Amino acid sequence: MPAVLEHVYKRYADDVTALADVSFGVMRGELVGLLGPSGCGKSTLLNLIGCIDLPTSGHVYVSGEETSLLKDNELTRLRRDHVGTIFQFFNLLPTLSLAENVAVPLMLARKDGAQSKARVADVLERVGLTDRGSAYPAQVSGGQLQRAAIARAIVHRPAIVLADEPTGNLDSRNGEIVLNLLRELASGGQTIIMATHSREAASMCDRRIHLLDGAIEYTT
Ligand SMILES: Nc1ncnc2c1ncn2[C@@H]1O[C@H](COP(=O)(O)OP(=O)(O)OP(=O)(O)O)[C@@H](O)[C@H]1O
Ligand SMILES: [Mg+2]
Repeated sequence: MPAVLEHVYKRYADDVTALADVSFGVMRGELVGLLGPSGCGKSTLLNLIGCIDLPTSGHVYVSGEETSLLKDNELTRLRRDHVGTIFQFFNLLPTLSLAENVAVPLMLARKDGAQSKARVADVLERVGLTDRGSAYPAQVSGGQLQRAAIARAIVHRPAIVLADEPTGNLDSRNGEIVLNLLRELASGGQTIIMATHSREAASMCDRRIHLLDGAIEYTT
């Protein structure tokens, strides 16, 4: 399984328990939704699977490796090679064109120029941005920005794609385009874990994990 959590706890301070005894696994090709009220621990969970943070106790396995046992450089490599992340606010670099933004994960992975160019062209086509690659983030719409952010998250073909409220800043039409793209990625074998407040987004998931106060309340 690409991602497994066993009895995971996350405490930020003595008085903040963001996750309490969370256990679940996500299969290859599965689109899983993380649902629940603000502050229930969705982003915290994504950060643990994304190797941005480590659990206070319990075990998080990403592509079979237990994150807490890795050295910093091994954790960076795991994140870089196996995880792609889509944020609510896109997080594209304003001084780079869309195509250059999309190429960033390949540069970090030190892919050579020709291969990198072909990959970028390929994912831009996939998200319908072939003719906007040379535009800068300030010159495109919110829907186009989010599609570029998705292209960047998948260009290195990560096993796991994390999405934190990916449709939160989009109108319903662009939201639908983004959700369809995520479904397509799952069909291709990638694992998608999406935190969302949106009912439409939740309805597109294979499985929904409902969190309350840092614990799994129920799964549907
Ligand atoms: N870096 C941090 N330091 C201290 N407390 C934090 C930190 N990050 C999150 N928290 C706390 O942990 C709890 C869970 O936060 P988290 O961001 O995971 O919630 P969420 O479900 O993503 O909420 P939202 O739907 O608003 O995005 C909250 O009580 C939050 O205030
Ligand atoms: Mg959040």
